[in-house]
Formats: sequence, structure tokens, C-alpha cells
Amino acid sequence: MAIREIKKYPDPVLKAKTASVVNIDDTLQKLIDDMVETMHAATGVGLAANQVGVPLQLAVIDIGDREEGKPKQPLVVLINPEIISQEGSVVSEEGCLSIPEYTENVKRAKRVKVRAKDRKGKQFELEAEGLMAKALQHEIDHLNGLLFIDRLSPLKKNIFRRKLKKTLAETA
Ligand code: NI
Repeated sequence: MAIREIKKYPDPVLKAKTASVVNIDDTLQKLIDDMVETMHAATGVGLAANQVGVPLQLAVIDIGDREEGKPKQPLVVLINPEIISQEGSVVSEEGCLSIPEYTENVKRAKRVKVRAKDRKGKQFELEAEGLMAKALQHEIDHLNGLLFIDRLSPLKKNIFRRKLKKTLAETA
């Protein structure tokens, strides 16, 4: 296993269209293992393959015991995931490993049902709410080239852009 570099906004790979996974082979298993290790090393709850520069429909989520009052949840590997139903809406704070040191409130569906394949290629469905529902929507957005900042109001997005410009100027 190896830790891979996490691509940061505005790297174009984060906006690129991702391709369906066709071959669930050793290369893919290695990528999954690396993504899990990279996510854990960065103390993130989710990571999409395009965040490590691989434009494939693959994401990992591990919220563990971070949700108060809920038992520890197992690691989820999502291959070619799609949201097949959603309901309600909820606003909560989000951040992203590709957008360091920035968080903002984002409106998402409250509950989602996702269909995907696991790392063995077996299809499964997952119904979730709370942190898992948020993570699923955030990661599936990544696979569609969307970042959480794309879900902000134009005003908030402008504030983010100005902050980013300032940060880039300071680190240049
Ligand atoms: Ni993210």
C-alpha cells in the first residue's frame, strides 16, 4: 500500500468526467488499498479516485465512529455508484481533502439510496442518512466533477474564490 498525492482545487482532474470501472483486477485492488490508506492518513471520511488523479468511478468512505450516538460503521468501497433515490433536505457543514482549510454549509438530500458494486464486483444497495448520506452525496459529486463549492450560492462561492486568491498569493 502507498499514500498517493491528493489533488487540490483547482486541479483540472477534479472537474474531469470519470469513466465507469470495467475491469475489477489487481490494479484496481491496489488503487482501492492506496485510496483507503491515503484517506486514513489525511483523516478524511471519504475519497474519490479522481482526487488521487485517477478519473474512474470509484470512491471509498469510512466514517467509523465519528457519528455521535451511532455504532462504528464499516468501510464502504463504491464502484460505479449511483443515487437511485433521495428524499428530504438538510444543511450541514462540509469540507474536502482537495480544498484544505475551507468549510461551508451545504444543502443535501437528507436520505439517499445508492446502488454500487463492492470491491469484488458484487452489486449492493445502501440506504443512509446522517453523515453517511452526506459522504455518499459528496463522493458521488466528485465522480461527476462536482465539488461542494459548486453547490454554494453565487455569493458564498465568490467569497471562497477571493479567499483562495489571497491564499495562493500568500503562498506564491
Ligand atoms: Ni471531497
